[in-house]
Amino acid sequence: MAMLIKSAKFVKSAVKPIHYPDTGLPEIAFAGRSNVGKSSLINKLLNRKKLVRTSRTPGCTQTINFFEINNELMFVDLPGYGYAKVSKEVRKQWGPMVEAYLTSRENLRVVVVILDIRRTPTSDDMNLIGWLSSKHIPYLIVLTKADKLKKHKHKQQKVKIAGIIGVDEKDITTFSARTGEGKEELWERLLEYRR
Ligand code: GTP
Ligand code: MG
Repeated sequence: MAMLIKSAKFVKSAVKPIHYPDTGLPEIAFAGRSNVGKSSLINKLLNRKKLVRTSRTPGCTQTINFFEINNELMFVDLPGYGYAKVSKEVRKQWGPMVEAYLTSRENLRVVVVILDIRRTPTSDDMNLIGWLSSKHIPYLIVLTKADKLKKHKHKQQKVKIAGIIGVDEKDITTFSARTGEGKEELWERLLEYRR
């Protein structure tokens, strides 16, 4: 069952650990290629149209953004990677900024790695997943924008991507921020990490 959202609020943007909010609440982070649909997915999970800013232009989210839900859980929207057009400076900052968060955040419970259901994972995607595994940071794979692919192709893409990443296809959630497909399933999986 999806979580009943009584309150969802933006808490803070941060680029460095000293700026992270010290709520101590369990945290779920959302990572993925720029423009893949991270912010849209968060809005959909929280039933909010515009809590998190989304854009057709890649590179919309450039800081680590913290959201507090029901005073019991935090969602963390991470800036996207792999967008060639951002400046070299921004690209150079991305790695250390996100890496610092992922390695230092004690209340981080799980990282939701978001991929486009229509695409083969990029080397950036594979690097992130490999890196999370090497650090023993739990992660969940979500294939989003499912509404953009015909239903009968969903399973096929899921099996293919599962094979490339090396996870069980049963552990992958298909999602659409447009239709809400996969929302209940993703919430169920996320809540297993809440404690
Ligand atoms: P950055 O912050 O730039 O890293 O991007 P992001 O990953 O947060 O992506 P965002 O949620 O801003 O979405 C990017 C674009 O994809 C927007 O135009 C969204 O409307 C669109 N989009 C996101 N999710 C979906 C989806 O499930 N289906 C469809 N059809 N479009 C989507
Ligand atoms: Mg975003």
